[in-house]
Amino acid sequence: MPVIPATDENIKKAADIIRSGGVAAFPTETVYGLGADALNAKACAKIFEIKRRPFFDPLIVHISDLSMIDIVSKGMPPEVRRLTEKFWPGPLTVILEKSENIPEIVTSGLDSVAVRMPSHKTALRLIELSGVPVAAPSANPFGYLSPTEAKHVDEQLGEDVPMILDGGSCGVGIESTIIKIENGKNYLLRSGGIPIEEIKKITGDIDMPESRKAQAPGMLPEHYSPVTRLKLFSEVNEITAAHNPAYLLFRNNDKNFPEDRIEILSEDGNLAEAAARLFSCLHRLDSLGADIIFAERVPETGLGAAIMDRLTRASLK
Ligand code: TXA
Ligand code: MG
Repeated sequence: MPVIPATDENIKKAADIIRSGGVAAFPTETVYGLGADALNAKACAKIFEIKRRPFFDPLIVHISDLSMIDIVSKGMPPEVRRLTEKFWPGPLTVILEKSENIPEIVTSGLDSVAVRMPSHKTALRLIELSGVPVAAPSANPFGYLSPTEAKHVDEQLGEDVPMILDGGSCGVGIESTIIKIENGKNYLLRSGGIPIEEIKKITGDIDMPESRKAQAPGMLPEHYSPVTRLKLFSEVNEITAAHNPAYLLFRNNDKNFPEDRIEILSEDGNLAEAAARLFSCLHRLDSLGADIIFAERVPETGLGAAIMDRLTRASLK
């Protein structure tokens, strides 16, 4: 069992692993990450191997301090800085021009690098003690549900990861929002933990990517998928006959589905709570051996947009 509590002593052990070219899993406020020294190509290759991640999907580099910006990038333009001043540390990732220090494997050969300063104190301490920027994708097999608890990482990758720091459930529960600002245009590459409405208050309009190239390269249509087939619904009449169904509901079970086959995201209809619970509810429903999960659509405002993005991709498998 590589899961250990995220005490300062254990964080130091994980930092030692990262400093010596290994990988360790750790909590962030969004999802658990699988971290390696972002300046060490061989160490980062292990991440791809463990996750079975295609090399065309670049990693996010995590920093604990603004002084690391100049190590990983050629600097932060003022329009990007306005965003990071507001949302860092926190669930925002920005795309910057990459420095020579970052190996090609991290960026999949792109000239840009994705950078984020997480707010989770374990993540910040781990990066600080490692003394290097930490490349970290979500700590799940490529394409599967994201991990929001240490046990999710252990169940999926426990045999390949020497250490998983347990920091409890992730408070935000959904990955960071990714923004790229280029030639005066603002692109949303992935909806996430900071609602787009909040981003727009700083950037003004958000532009639609003009080509696939402008999007996050790893954003495949099918992603975040449980093993069990998943189908979205709004009204009960969209639910088709199924042999052994399970249900992911938004705020209540007014349709009287069997109590042991349901998860409710938020009784109060609170979208932050729904986001925080999304992946752990899906993990549980996926373990029931159902033949289908019917997932209720949530309102697409605020964090609801990121929740629906994840559910829609999960439904396309
Ligand atoms: O909340 C998060 O961001 C979590 C935690 C661990 O920090 N990390 C995470 O990493 O979600 P991952 O690898 O699951 O997703 C990274 C996304 C991918 O969609 C990838 O294509 C995109 O970031 N990305 C990375 N580098 C990029 C770049 N240079 N340009 C555009 N997109 C990039
Ligand atoms: Mg991921």
